[in-house]
Amino acid sequence: MPPRTPLPPYRRLPLLVTADGDLLDELLRLAAAGGTEVELAADPAAARARWTPAPLVLVGADQAQACLRARLPRRPRTVLVGRSGQLDPGTQVAELIGAEHVATLPAAEPWLVDRFAECAVELPGGPARVVAVLGGRGGAGASVLAGGLAVTAARARLRTLLVDADPLGGGLDLVLGWEQLEGLRWPGLTGTDGRMDPPSLVRALPSRGDLVVLSWDRGALRHLPAEAMAATVDAARRGRDVVVLDLPRHLDDAAVVALQAADRALIVVPAELRATAAAARVVAVAAPHCADLAVVVRGPAPGRLRAGEVARALGLPLAGTLRPEPGLCRGLERGEAPAASGKGPLAVLCQRLLDGLADVPTAGAA
Ligand SMILES: Nc1ncnc2c1ncn2[C@@H]1O[C@H](COP(=O)(O)OP(=O)(O)OP(=O)(O)O)[C@@H](O)[C@H]1O
Ligand SMILES: [Mg+2]
Repeated sequence: MPPRTPLPPYRRLPLLVTADGDLLDELLRLAAAGGTEVELAADPAAARARWTPAPLVLVGADQAQACLRARLPRRPRTVLVGRSGQLDPGTQVAELIGAEHVATLPAAEPWLVDRFAECAVELPGGPARVVAVLGGRGGAGASVLAGGLAVTAARARLRTLLVDADPLGGGLDLVLGWEQLEGLRWPGLTGTDGRMDPPSLVRALPSRGDLVVLSWDRGALRHLPAEAMAATVDAARRGRDVVVLDLPRHLDDAAVVALQAADRALIVVPAELRATAAAARVVAVAAPHCADLAVVVRGPAPGRLRAGEVARALGLPLAGTLRPEPGLCRGLERGEAPAASGKGPLAVLCQRLLDGLADVPTAGAA
């Protein structure tokens, strides 16, 4: 059995709680020296959700009293930090907010760099999980599920890349409502020899928070060389936590390469007889390229076909079911990304599918 790299449920970054711009600049410089990114909160209200999971919390002297009033829970590895003169070493406040240390700048700079460096080591590493989604028939809901998975992964602070592998799909950026967002689409990337390193790939593409998208555009149709897809997925596997691939049903060379790179593939099948028959054809073509292929059955089921029956007919495991989601279609038309609210059947299924990915050995691990 190949070793398994746990998929981090949450990217844990040190948390800085301060509204003091000068102090913040100094702490950001020290964090960079320690090789880690940080989370920022200007006050205890903004800090509350991240207070407990953060591996290290630095409370600026300016926010110490506010943190005390906010009654944030005690937690290990909390540090009160400020410049000399800002902090009274005999102050009670550090003890009252549960700070283990008082760090006075500039004297404590090397010590803080070391604490940041420890967090950098704690950051999840290892290759990304790659999941591919394809439809069992036209309009099955594959692109929406791919978008939902990517949005849900990014909401969990996983660095995510959503890749549009369907040149005829009209652009996956539209599924997220990102068509106005600046950044390269496939045609802008494919002029190169296909080589790219993860940071420059991420910088070149449209992004928001932890989600980055590589989409087709609405210009003239272009051929995507399989090498460009291979290089993209390879770079993404090294530089991201999760990669979601939206594949066409008619697999071209690039889509085959993408499918072969996936740790798990999901085929979305509406709970209808004809859709199941069509999906059987798609499975026959796709299965030889992916060892881990599972079905997502989407309702409604006008003939009361059960999800288990669809999966059995296709000879594949059932990964999940999707109840019809009222309002999803209207939301998409308005430019709302699928599963963005974190609520509803699609968001719940996406979270479950991502949790399940943690058990899948990555190609990198294998
Ligand atoms: N979970 C869902 N609940 C309700 N409606 C959905 C859901 N998923 C998809 N749809 C509807 O189905 C339409 C087609 O979905 P989508 O574009 O994801 O299908 P697809 O399988 O990618 O199609 P294509 O064959 O064009 O690639 C959407 O525009 C939306 O109206
Ligand atoms: Mg699609």
